[in-house]
Amino acid sequence: MGARNIEMPRQVGDMDSSESFEKQKTGLRSQMVGGLSARDEGRNVKLAGWVHRRRDLGGMVFLDVRDRSGLVQVSVGPEWTDEISLQLAPKLGAEDIVVLEGLVYLRPQEMKNIDMETGEIEIRALKLERLSKADTPAIPVYRSPEDELPSEELRLQHRILDLRRTDLQRNLDLRHRLTLECRNYMDDLGFLEIETPILTKPTPEGARDYLVPSRLHHGEFYALPQSPQIYKQLCMVAGFDRYFQIARCFRDEDLRADRQPEFTQIDIEASFVTPDDIMKWVEGLMVALCSHFQDIEARAPFDRITYAEAMERFGTDRPDLRYSVEIQDWTSALEDCGSNILKSAVAEGGRIRGLLVPGGSQLSRKYLDQLQEDVKKGGASGLLWVKNTPAGISGPLSSHLKDESCVKLGLKPGDMALVAAGEDTLTSLALSIARTFVIEKLEIKEEKLNAWLWVVDFPIFGLGPNGEMLANHHPFVMPVQEDADFMEERPGSVRGLAYDLVYNGVEFGSGSIRNHDSNVQRTILRILGLNESEIDQKFGFLLNSLDAGAPPHGGIALGVDRIVAEFVGATSLRDVIAFPKTTAARGLLEGSPTSLRDDSLSELGLTRSSKSHRSQNME
Ligand code: AMO
Repeated sequence: MGARNIEMPRQVGDMDSSESFEKQKTGLRSQMVGGLSARDEGRNVKLAGWVHRRRDLGGMVFLDVRDRSGLVQVSVGPEWTDEISLQLAPKLGAEDIVVLEGLVYLRPQEMKNIDMETGEIEIRALKLERLSKADTPAIPVYRSPEDELPSEELRLQHRILDLRRTDLQRNLDLRHRLTLECRNYMDDLGFLEIETPILTKPTPEGARDYLVPSRLHHGEFYALPQSPQIYKQLCMVAGFDRYFQIARCFRDEDLRADRQPEFTQIDIEASFVTPDDIMKWVEGLMVALCSHFQDIEARAPFDRITYAEAMERFGTDRPDLRYSVEIQDWTSALEDCGSNILKSAVAEGGRIRGLLVPGGSQLSRKYLDQLQEDVKKGGASGLLWVKNTPAGISGPLSSHLKDESCVKLGLKPGDMALVAAGEDTLTSLALSIARTFVIEKLEIKEEKLNAWLWVVDFPIFGLGPNGEMLANHHPFVMPVQEDADFMEERPGSVRGLAYDLVYNGVEFGSGSIRNHDSNVQRTILRILGLNESEIDQKFGFLLNSLDAGAPPHGGIALGVDRIVAEFVGATSLRDVIAFPKTTAARGLLEGSPTSLRDDSLSELGLTRSSKSHRSQNME
């Protein structure tokens, strides 16, 4: 994803007014550097910041001085700078901190730098002082546009220096603005921000828990919340009516570019609501957030499709609708084409589905092999393909595809068809991977820039790897009314009042209407394989609370990190989190997690297992 065209960071006050300089003023400086312009010619200023770059030219020293607001050029020369400062200037190193007093001068026309916000002026330093000396930076903060970034591992180790980069400063500034906007928006609708516990009991959201041993109660553990789900429901029973929280969540799961072990949600819950209420509020919130960006737009109401339709047309529950390539059912067109693979897949109860890829015949053999590998890695069986090239029909299915089959598929010269046969879950997976792959490799042009989508009516239950019943979202989703009656007989067919928000193929959020009837909630927990005593032990506090007079309620949680990353055009959540973890869940700056000494462990009632002791000695 390319970098977005986004506004520069907010400054302290409105940058162009002397009133804002007044707000920026502290005991050590008269203002920040970023708002200075030709209008300030002749102004006497006191500035402080980092030495971004130093250049020595013919007896003069030029310093680019940087603070959060930007950069300004400071010139140090014998005609205007005092003797001690003149001596100091050539000794200044990158990232030293200086404070200086000087006068704002207009640069001569030929010296103006249009790439720099303050490029029309320079500060002639009268006096210059070094406040802190910096070690030679382990990674450079100043880079010319051609310089590549150091490796991410190195940048995460030296995160402080990396965070000084304009991109990251801007990302975190925008993150602040978006959460602020969110707080104002929710407040305006009468939502209260309520903090829920961090040391708590396991919350079932499908990941492993991070556990904290209790010092006072040996052998017992707190769990860090995977989300505030149960507490926000309790807030509804407690009568708060509208709750929200910018909430930190913790999940011990396999990490990818779009997942962090600790992340932030805009968590929302409200009483006496229908799915439409939640969707309308969230749409309004997205419109408000988008107003901070020039080329990101949200127009309510967003499109809606059911989960079943999303899987049928795109093979995934978070389709990227910027592109119109869609999965088609080719069972009747191809089952008798002569291919044994296709025929037996249908005989076993499967279907033949495929993607027609306009212009796809250009995709090289190398890419098609790579696609097969990606599909197999994703857990689906392989794909068959057929190309319509000037040399004729080619590919594994070509011998079976006569002209009339090509016509049936709509395969025109230059096109390619990708075909998967078998059970729907596997063909959906294969074809959704293929859809993403061909869009990227063929650089298919998007038909719109911003594709907002609600996916609704998710099945409540799914099957785990060993055939066990699992909750698709979490166990608190209310069944769609007409499906509730057969929940115990056919749980796999029960749809929930659940909705996911998807933006350009990224799941931004997920929510549902909850069970306020404890009997329905118990039934769901039983279907998930819990016996009565496990239900009472794990969820008794929720069920008892529901029996205290629970209003109908529902909500949603939106991933702040994902929203910010998408809006600023970052490829990884790490670029929008100040101190993120690696994909191995390590904090490289501080060196976390750490091992504990035996006496600390025994204080917590823990002992080191001989296995972990051995592996630690070997590290
Ligand atoms: P869910 O688990 O779908 O729902 O999470 C909601 C949203 O949180 C974000 N998210 C993550 N972001 C970064 N790293 C992660 N590891 C991560 N996991 C999830 C996603 C996701 O859409 N309690 C329910 C919500 C509800 O029903 O109200 C919940 O947490 O953007």
